[in-house]
Order: sequence, then structure tokens, then C-alpha cells
Amino acid sequence: MNRPRRILETPAVPQPVIAATGLYVPPHSISNQELVDAFNAFVASFNIENAAAIADGTVAPLQPSSAEFIEKASGIKSRHVMDKTGILAPAVMRPILPERPNDEISVLAEMAVAAANDALGRWGGDKSDIGAVICAASNMQRPYPAMAVEVQDALGLSGFAFDMNVACSSATFGLKTAADFISSGSTKAVLMVNPEICSGHLNFRDRDSHFIFGDVATAVVVSGSETAGAWRILGTRLKTQFSNNIRNNFGFLNRAAPEGIGKPDKLFVQEGRKVFKEVVPMVSEMILSHARDIGVDPRSLKRLWLHQANINMNEMIGRKVLGREPRADENVIILDTFANTSSAGSIIAFHTANEDFAAGERGLICSFGAGYSAGTVFVEKI
Ligand code: COA
Repeated sequence: MNRPRRILETPAVPQPVIAATGLYVPPHSISNQELVDAFNAFVASFNIENAAAIADGTVAPLQPSSAEFIEKASGIKSRHVMDKTGILAPAVMRPILPERPNDEISVLAEMAVAAANDALGRWGGDKSDIGAVICAASNMQRPYPAMAVEVQDALGLSGFAFDMNVACSSATFGLKTAADFISSGSTKAVLMVNPEICSGHLNFRDRDSHFIFGDVATAVVVSGSETAGAWRILGTRLKTQFSNNIRNNFGFLNRAAPEGIGKPDKLFVQEGRKVFKEVVPMVSEMILSHARDIGVDPRSLKRLWLHQANINMNEMIGRKVLGREPRADENVIILDTFANTSSAGSIIAFHTANEDFAAGERGLICSFGAGYSAGTVFVEKI
């Protein structure tokens, strides 16, 4: 007996798009010269205080820093920070951010909310469609409750929220997670925020790295509605490969170590040269193979919005990806005024340099950093 055939309709898979981005820029900016003046004042007083030990060879004298070196080696000219006065006081040399009571919004969440409000205002969509908030950043202010849940509450959003940390690659890992939530039907829209107070984990007394980071917050709304002006996500790919060359050993077990808490301070450390040499080929190959696998000709990309750590790294990756010397407008650099803002760097670059795209034009958001970790997100203007 013939039974009537049921026609099974395959539900359309929602196409994730970047619907809007937002930016929060902290109130203070520090030029290289200001930073170097503070560092060199610290060096001078250290060398005076330790003159006898330096003379008998038991302590090495500290060397001064230089604004010219910083700009030449990194491309950084200045950086935004949440507190300038503490960083520039030679006896302090760290941001001073008073602890807030539990019934006040925490400073990291406040930055994220400011960036999110910028993104939500540009989006103009229905906030009730946002069913997930991801806080993707290098350093959370506390282990729990998750920063993302505090941001969700401050914005009056429902659904679920969680934190994720993949260092400088956090935003692209967050974008992929958001895109996958959209494709799988978990929610109609996702808010991802990237608040970064990098000045809090930077050793301003370390000549090799005192100039590297800045503070900022970015936000991205990823949705499943292909509205005009949004950015279709053509493909996302993530990669990790263990390395000790960029490391931060701060954590809750520090107090369990016999040396005691804060001895020495657990701050950012890196082998900058090794990072440079190992990450440039890793990321260039990843971009090219991802482009090939999704049928995108890398030479046809209108723009690269790369992670912002070092201008020389970005120029080398740009050359390898485009197969020629990229023009300045093809390889966006914002690290000159923001420095390395960890997860937020590629999102700031995207946010500040995408207005001139016509429908159908394509670009690449790419991040890389500690782990090592790297993420590629190819996008096309709708
Ligand atoms: N002022 C003046 N001179 C300095 C200095 C400073 N602040 N810091 C280092 N130098 C000197 C060094 O002592 C060294 O001198 P020498 O040649 O006489 O030994 C020289 O400058 C070169 O030092 P080096 O550390 O090799 O510099 P670099 O060209 O590698 O640049 C970085 C340093 C950190 C800017 C660069 O390596 C970098 O950005 N790497 C990638 C890092 C990265 O992307 N990290 C990701 C973090 S998320």
C-alpha cells in the first residue's frame, strides 16, 4: 500500500551578519614622550638609589627608553588609557582605578556598556532579539559573576551571557561563536563586547614592553537578518598553537604560591622578536588557506582589518595576503593612536574604516596573539 509521502522542508539556515559595531574611547591619552619621560625618571632614581650596588657590579643599571625607538619598532605614537596620572607618576607607574562597591557597575562592564550602546544605537534593531551576550577579552575584572552577565543586566537584555578569553584573538573567537549561535538558531542576535584595560596588566617599569598597550572597548551586534548596510559573514576560522612567548601568569593560585601574592607582580611578558617571527607566517598562511577554501581571491579584498600590535607585522602580513605592497587605505592602521588594545584592535580598525564599501565588496577581520591564537572572519558588504 502506498502511503502518502511527507515532504520534509529543510528550514533555511539563518545567514549571520555583522549588523553594527560600537566603540568606547577612554578619557586620557598618553604620548610616547610622556611615557618615556616617566620611565626615564624612574630609571634615574633607581640608578641613584642603587649606585653602590651598580658600582660593585651586583645590580645592573637600568637603561633609558626612547620615543624614537618606540615609534620605529612598533608604529605606536600614543595610547588611550583609563587613568593617566598613576601611570605617569614615577613612584606609582600603574593606573589608579578605585575599587567600586558591589552595588555599582564595575569599570570594565561600564566601558563595555558604553561601546554596546554605541553599537545598539547604530543597529536600531529590536533589543529583545538579542538572546546572548559574549564578553570576549584578554583580562576579566574578576572571575565571577561573568562580566557579560553584568553587561546584559545593565542593558536590560534577556537570554544568556558568558565570558571568554582567547587573549588578543578573543574578538574573532567571539564573532565565530556568535555566528554559530545565529546559524544554529540559538538566538536571533548576539551582542559581543571587548572591554580592555590593558594598562592594568602592563609593567610600566619594563623597558621592552612599557609602551605596548592601551585601553578601549568595542562592541559588535551579530544578527541573522540580512539588512542593507550590514556585513555578510562569508566564513570564520580559528586556530591555536601553544607558545610561551606571550604570557600572563596572574591568577587565583598566585596566593597559594610560597612566594606570596604579588612577588613578583604577575604581569604581561613576551619575547617580542620570537612572536614576530612565528606569528607572521602562521597568520599569513591561515588567511590564504581560509580564503582558498571559501573561494575568495585574497587579491580581491578591498581592505584588511588586522589585529593591531605592530605596524611592521601588519605590513608583512598585508604583503603576503595581497601579493603586493598594500596601500595605506587597504591595510588599516589604528595602533598609532590606540597602541595594542588586545582583542579590540581589529574591531576598532573595522569600525573606523568601512564606510566607503559598496554592496558586494569584501574585506577581512583578523586577529592574532597569545596562545598562540588567530581568527579570520571574511565579510561582504550587503
Ligand atoms: N627604548 C630604547 N631601546 C629599546 C627599548 C626602548 N623602550 N626597548 C628595547 N630597546 C632596544 C633593545 O635593548 C635592543 O637593543 P640592542 O639591539 O642594543 O640589543 C633593541 O632595542 C632591539 O630590541 P628588540 O626587543 O629586538 O626590539 P624589536 O625590534 O623586536 O621591537 C617589539 C620590540 C616589542 C616592538 C616587537 O618585537 C614586537 O612588536 N613584536 C611583536 C609583539 C606582538 O605582536 N605581541 C603581541 C602581543 S599581544
